[in-house]
Amino acid sequence: MTVRIKIPAAARIMTGFFFKTVVLFLFCVMIIFMRIDKLLCEMNIGSRSEVKAFLKKGQILVNNVAVNKPDTKVDEKTAVITFKGKEYRYAPFAYYMMNKPAGVVSATTDDKDRTVLDLLKENLLQNRGELTGIPLSDIFPVGRLDKDTVGLLLLTNDGELAHRLLSPKKHVPKTYYVETDGVLTQEAAMCLEQGVDIGEKELTKEAEVEILSEKSCTITITEGKFHQVKRMFQAVDLKVMYLKRLSMGTLKLDEQLAEGEVRKLTQEEVEKLC
Ligand code: URA
Repeated sequence: MTVRIKIPAAARIMTGFFFKTVVLFLFCVMIIFMRIDKLLCEMNIGSRSEVKAFLKKGQILVNNVAVNKPDTKVDEKTAVITFKGKEYRYAPFAYYMMNKPAGVVSATTDDKDRTVLDLLKENLLQNRGELTGIPLSDIFPVGRLDKDTVGLLLLTNDGELAHRLLSPKKHVPKTYYVETDGVLTQEAAMCLEQGVDIGEKELTKEAEVEILSEKSCTITITEGKFHQVKRMFQAVDLKVMYLKRLSMGTLKLDEQLAEGEVRKLTQEEVEKLC
């Protein structure tokens, strides 16, 4: 004899709802959440093997609970990771200021030269306090400085901001410190200010030049053509011997940053830029 148990409709609905919720939750855990070892690597807390060792030693806390297993899934957007007493949280954007040294190319990868991304990575590994939850593979330099140009370079994963800063329509001012091979006369400075022929369709846009000494000045331009500053000085028969970017829009190079060093932008700097 078979006994049939009649499950009330309300209970059936509740059970279905429960199962759907569980399935959805598991789906989220599998698809959306990230393995803790992967997340820690992407946060640049260490290499895969370093991260595994940190986890094994119980040095990684997720929301105040020690996590030992590398395959533990975490919600990277809400997880508060504590490592050696410091807290790391997910942030959608990362903004770094670099004092670019000479000899490094403004690219994310390069077959023969060291790139600003290599330099950023080295800096972040040395100084883990500057970490964010952004994969370094998403970060790129905003605009280019020549290999021999030094100074302010912004690195971010914020494409919209980069576009705004680089768009020719926005006329974002960029100030450079320049040293020349010959004397920069008042006449030459005036020419640079009014616009010179650098072989483009139009003369360069108005610029501001401040003569600092016989062979040095600052120049502020609102364009960003290839080798623009060097070509502008060439147009007045001068060779640029040393070029350093001092500012870009509201962002000023931090005097405390030595060449090759990087730091995160402060909240105030980000707000002003954005
Ligand atoms: N202008 C140049 O000529 N070079 C740079 O790196 C930046 C501006």
